[in-house]
Amino acid sequence: MNSSRIQQIETYAEKMLTGPFVDEALRIAHELPHVRRVYANALRLAQAEGYTHQDRVAAAALLHDIGLPVVEKRGDHPRVGAELTAQFLQENELFSPEEIAEICEAIGHHGRLDGDTPLIHILRDADTLDLLGTVGLMRAFTSKTHLPVYLPEHPRGETWGLTSANFTQRFQAGLGMGPTILDQINFQLSCYENLCTGTAKEWGRPLRDTMRQFVIQFAGEVARYP
Ligand SMILES: [Fe+2]
Ligand SMILES: [Fe+2]
Repeated sequence: MNSSRIQQIETYAEKMLTGPFVDEALRIAHELPHVRRVYANALRLAQAEGYTHQDRVAAAALLHDIGLPVVEKRGDHPRVGAELTAQFLQENELFSPEEIAEICEAIGHHGRLDGDTPLIHILRDADTLDLLGTVGLMRAFTSKTHLPVYLPEHPRGETWGLTSANFTQRFQAGLGMGPTILDQINFQLSCYENLCTGTAKEWGRPLRDTMRQFVIQFAGEVARYP
């Protein structure tokens, strides 16, 4: 990898993600450690999947959430992040126009289910893996502190067992994620289904199982109390 180019990108990503946010709530669970985990996982995934352009992977991963500080609506951050990335990479002449287009397409597609270039799949999978396992649990709890953890009538959350398609239907019907942190966890569990690469599915399986087991055990423990 071209280490000075990556260093320059890393410095810019750090500056964006540690500066002010229009909506400070969007910072939670998307701090630098998230970006560093996505970066590390993306590089490992690329290697395992035989995608050889490591610098493009590094740029896409490091910059994928730089739209978050500047948006009012969370859903806009992939598109805005892609625009900021294009501007930054062009101004500093860090990649060719074709490479910049590929990197920005991947950033613009993260958090979505469409798009099928290898770089889109690698970035999406690296980002999705960070929703699973104990890291995913930690992110669910920290990002949803305003919600109750559970409701006694639904000790596994009312969304337990819902598929990714079920959640999409809920969102389309305006029902949202559900009223508790457990529903956030159940949503994150459903994201396992959206992993694209065989490698990420393999790495994600034990993480998903750990998360599932947490919900099952938690529900069993709280069921003992009136
Ligand atoms: Fe994101
Ligand atoms: Fe992310």
